[in-house]
Amino acid sequence: MSQPTIESILQEQRLFPPPADLAAQAEIKSAEEYEQLYAKAEADPQAFWAELAEKELDWFEKWDTVLDWQPPFAKWFVGGKLNITYNCLDRHLKTWRRNKAALIWEGEPGDSRTLTYAQLHREVCQTANVLKQLGVGKGDRVGIYMPMVPEAAIAMLACARIGAPHTVVFGGFSAEALKDRLNDAEAKLVITADGGFRKDKAVPLKTAVDKALADNGVPSVNNVLVVQRTKADVTMASNRDHWWHELVPAASADCPPEPMDSEDMLFILYTSGTTGRPKGVVHTTGGYNLYTHMTCKWAFDLKDNDVYWCTADVGWITGHSYIVYGPLSNGATSLMYEGAPRPSNPGCFWDVVEKYGVNIFYTAPTAIRAFIKLGDQHPQARNLSSLRILGTVGEPINPEAWIWYQQVIGGGKCPIIDTWWQTETGGFMITPLPGATSTKPGSATRPFPGILADVVDLDGNPVADNEGGYLVVRHPWPSMMRTVYGDDDRFRRTYWEHIPPKDGKYVYFAGDGVRRDEDGYFWIMGRVDDVINVSGHRLGTMEIESALVSHPAVAEAAVVGRPDDLKGEDVFAFVTLENTHPPSDELNSELKQHVVNEIGVIARPGEIRFADALPKTRSGKIIRRFLRNLASGEDIAGDASTMEDQSVLDKLRQGS
Ligand code: WTA
Repeated sequence: MSQPTIESILQEQRLFPPPADLAAQAEIKSAEEYEQLYAKAEADPQAFWAELAEKELDWFEKWDTVLDWQPPFAKWFVGGKLNITYNCLDRHLKTWRRNKAALIWEGEPGDSRTLTYAQLHREVCQTANVLKQLGVGKGDRVGIYMPMVPEAAIAMLACARIGAPHTVVFGGFSAEALKDRLNDAEAKLVITADGGFRKDKAVPLKTAVDKALADNGVPSVNNVLVVQRTKADVTMASNRDHWWHELVPAASADCPPEPMDSEDMLFILYTSGTTGRPKGVVHTTGGYNLYTHMTCKWAFDLKDNDVYWCTADVGWITGHSYIVYGPLSNGATSLMYEGAPRPSNPGCFWDVVEKYGVNIFYTAPTAIRAFIKLGDQHPQARNLSSLRILGTVGEPINPEAWIWYQQVIGGGKCPIIDTWWQTETGGFMITPLPGATSTKPGSATRPFPGILADVVDLDGNPVADNEGGYLVVRHPWPSMMRTVYGDDDRFRRTYWEHIPPKDGKYVYFAGDGVRRDEDGYFWIMGRVDDVINVSGHRLGTMEIESALVSHPAVAEAAVVGRPDDLKGEDVFAFVTLENTHPPSDELNSELKQHVVNEIGVIARPGEIRFADALPKTRSGKIIRRFLRNLASGEDIAGDASTMEDQSVLDKLRQGS
């Protein structure tokens, strides 16, 4: 199986129309309806979004201005007041949904829990009151470092209830990475757990928090709230650490939602970029609520009796928008699963689908490729007939994996919703709508109504159909990131000036290469910057390089992505050593572990190759193109004459 290449995707001609019975019942029922909506939104985006905001959300006070656009800073629904937890919880309590399952949770060891909307509301209010008791107020940032347990969603909602922006740090990140993020956000409190279960192991989390906070490592943090999950032995610092199960059940369940300004910050989520420091992507309340609500409703065609399951972790944007906020705002039943396919049960995902009768299933291409490898016998041994819609996100999906997903998991009857979007965009940007869009394997298809996506060259000039270019968005949309936390300048440079504004018109630069075909379908080709995508996780090559050079043995490091059948890309590092440290297998393993300690297990290099020198231009810039060629075992492509020392490449080749 191979990754999508321009050649393989250019040959892809198959077209899968929406199933007629599904289309008949869908929110958006036909291609014509989509075209009309798209045209309406394009003609007047503000009126389009305002109409939906009025109809779909509850506001404490209506806005005065739909959009205030001072490029590159956008404000949506200015002057409006709301609380996203009111839309996700309180409003459903007034209807029959009060006793509907809001969250269904399945733990890896087989324990489970279901929270109705009324129960979830109660526990969110109690947790919010505990946060207040511990000194957290509106505007204070709260770090969340959790396994996939219901308390992770409850913690996020409790923060939003009182207007304290959360910053969720994926549990796979190391203590070091957690520390950097908590410091950047100046978090006042951290919510964590003793650990979580993953692949038959109890993964510790509290010890990482202890390590991050040791020696006053994060001076802003005063309190830690700890969920007991694995019952592992943990140290509880007096005056700092508190057990969730002691405080939350004892707290009052009365906590009115804080009236938030539409533009008040809802959360910060860190993501990798082209420099060493991860960026804090800032999302605000009103626009994010509306956009995640609408995309969830139309792209997943949520029905009231559906069981909807997104397999992401809440530590990523997919978990924020499509496990917690989007589905709950719609009053849906959102399933959370703690575990991952593992040798003791490679078919555990299909067990969960069968057990709960999952109707909508949303996962990543890397998982699909892993399932293919595990064998068809696992899904075939389960009853998957409840499935109606299948989604994918995180990286380009190769047509082979798409077809397998459609046939073996979907039984040939489920539309594949390939959603292209980013941490920065908040919600789906390019995606099929299941009742309206004919799909093509490997294409994320067409932009969501209101999203003016386009393909341009580096000067911002339009690119002809079927020619590759850069993916841009021409008009602000409600859930776009507002800034990089504490760094407006980086926000401007990274996203809005990379492609220079033309006639004062700014375009959003996504960092992805793309081709649009003659039917207006978008084919995403992957990142065009120094970001690599390993198993759907975004990693900055510079971050990994900084981690490597922080080891005393390393003089210089260059990291590139190497194509990988399962992970999409793998981390490949070229390292030159200090004279004091001779190369050895032990040092090689030690450096891999060093990256795990500095960033987390997701960044562990698949291969580290020691080199005498790295290929550089005469001005001293590392020529990554050559390293990418070497990493993937290809011939060096292109002109090497700009290189300072021609013998470097020969030596690197011999090293392979
Ligand atoms: C990639 C994840 C192709 C892309 C929601 C993007 C995709 C980056 C797709 C964002 C898709 C995401 N097809 N590529 N359907 N979805 N990507 O911020 O390169 O973790 O820029 O957000 O993932 O990753 P992030």
